[in-house]
Amino acid sequence: MSVHPGCAAAALEPEGEARGPFVQEQVSGPPDRGRVRAQRADSPAAGVLKQNGLVSRLRDFVARFAAARRVVVFTGAGVSQESGLDVFRGTDGTWSRFRLEDLATPEAFARDPERVWAWYRERYAAMRQASPNAAHRVIASWQERFPSLLVVTQNVDRLHQRAGSRRVVELHGTIWDSHCARCGRSRPTAELLEGVAAEELPRPCACGGLFRPSVVWFGEALPAAAFSEAADETGRSDVFVVVGTSAVVWPAAGLIELAAGAGALVVEVNREPSALSDLAQVALQGPAGEILPRLDAELAAWRSRS
Ligand code: OAD
Repeated sequence: MSVHPGCAAAALEPEGEARGPFVQEQVSGPPDRGRVRAQRADSPAAGVLKQNGLVSRLRDFVARFAAARRVVVFTGAGVSQESGLDVFRGTDGTWSRFRLEDLATPEAFARDPERVWAWYRERYAAMRQASPNAAHRVIASWQERFPSLLVVTQNVDRLHQRAGSRRVVELHGTIWDSHCARCGRSRPTAELLEGVAAEELPRPCACGGLFRPSVVWFGEALPAAAFSEAADETGRSDVFVVVGTSAVVWPAAGLIELAAGAGALVVEVNREPSALSDLAQVALQGPAGEILPRLDAELAAWRSRS
């Protein structure tokens, strides 16, 4: 099923998978449609762009970004990669080692809750230990530059909040909370796992139902309020910054199309082209923890000059 953004009750399905995680090959051609492309992450951005003869376009881009009134930052697993957390796709990605059908669907939980909990316990432990990296910190600092800034994340790790971001929409839920699969009662995951041996399930709810992590699984609906807030802000944004997502999971990825269709300046920061890089006017290629501080420095320099 292909789901259009704006459909808040839309199911999150692995439909994007059918496009293949490496669709980026189709969009990795030469810069076109006014795209500015920084090819090498290890060179100063201006230097790279000079190489491409695009310095004036970089200036235009930074000027437009600096003047933005409404900014949305849309993130995926790549923004937390430099905090030591796994991404999902690619050669070292989670889904190259595990089948998502065994771990991230309601059917998997019904079939084998012990296995699903064992995997989420491991992820939860890794996320608790992880600290925000430079990319999370720059994004948090941007709320001082752009007071209405909204972070829309597909991540369940809460690293944006821990870096200080105040307005964060968690499109795919959070691992820090769990809820009863039968009655919906919510409990912090830490409380639920306290004193429970690694191979055991958390104690059941008073209603007899099993607790599960409050993450959105494939085939489930996204939280309606979260998706509609994300879609509203995206449709009104002047600048839409996409960081570290392969953009193959819908309806989340549809926000990029929504932003581009509504006329926002779409900026992508990623180690490699994504499935929707084609929609970005500006593609900054490299690790988010290096690219975002550089972009931030460009914004600061622009402000001090003007
Ligand atoms: P993916 O693993 O699909 O994509 C991560 C993207 O980040 C890739 O395009 C990488 O090239 C890029 N990347 C890796 N390290 C980076 C870095 N240091 N800096 C910048 N970019 C980097 O993760 P998502 O797009 O977030 O859902 O995946 C979307 C959803 O699929 C997840 O929310 C999850 C997953 O299955 C569920 O489990 C429901």
